[in-house]
Amino acid sequence: MTDLSGRSVLVVGATGGLGAPLSRGLAAAGARLTLAGRSMPRLQALGLDGAHLVTADLQHPTAANDLVQAALAAHGALDGVVYAAGVVAFGGVGDLDDDVVDELLLINYLAPARLARAALPHLSAGGFVVNLSAVVAEQAVPNMGAYSASKAALTAFDAVLRMEARRSKVRVIDARPPHTETGLAGRPIAGTAPRLPKGLSPDDVAARILRAVTGDETDLPSSAFA
Ligand SMILES: NC(=O)c1ccc[n+]([C@@H]2O[C@H](COP(=O)([O-])OP(=O)(O)OC[C@H]3O[C@@H](n4cnc5c(N)ncnc54)[C@H](OP(=O)(O)O)[C@@H]3O)[C@@H](O)[C@H]2O)c1
Repeated sequence: MTDLSGRSVLVVGATGGLGAPLSRGLAAAGARLTLAGRSMPRLQALGLDGAHLVTADLQHPTAANDLVQAALAAHGALDGVVYAAGVVAFGGVGDLDDDVVDELLLINYLAPARLARAALPHLSAGGFVVNLSAVVAEQAVPNMGAYSASKAALTAFDAVLRMEARRSKVRVIDARPPHTETGLAGRPIAGTAPRLPKGLSPDDVAARILRAVTGDETDLPSSAFA
């Protein structure tokens, strides 16, 4: 079992529908938190006293490294990184503008890859990286090609990182939850969401991810959320 009490954990995308319950769960488990989002008022609204709050736009190439340095400066150590930021877009493979595809790949794949690269040399033995991929990395869904590709890229990256990080005794959990009622599908950067069946509860998904962290699991496929 991994005890989170006193562990220094950086949550990126802490203001999101999944990032918020993940942050609350980590705080309840006694973790010392660095919480990152784009908006200081939204970070403050989480009400997690004692957490170090940092704003950053992940479109900036140094943001991931800056966040790792902020967590190290705040807590003097880094034991875990949770990447819960992300954007979605809907549209056929020929419909999306290059700018939209660039942002999907940047926020959903490049930024977490940069974060892991920046964090890995500092993560303590027994530490962890959690990346939020998605069920669409496993299953093809029409009108979600670019989003799915960005998530499949992250899942492929995580599979290699998991092997490479093992020698540092760092676990990599690639979480691939099904549709979850965070409102993400209602704020796409392009297109319109299709009618979706009712999704999972964000609190339940966050709790399942945290159970994987404390329970020393090494992967979280979509089937783990059933
Ligand atoms: N909801 C689902 O159905 C579902 C299912 C599977 C996987 N996922 C994945 O889970 C992760 C979290 O999703 P969610 O549903 O919690 O979405 P969400 O509620 O929209 O939260 C997204 C988070 O990403 C942050 N973000 C977006 N663009 C950013 C940027 N350029 N710079 C910094 N932060 C940025 C947002 O910050 P702001 O507060 O500043 O906007 C917010 O904290 C995503 O990777 C998503 O793909 C979601």
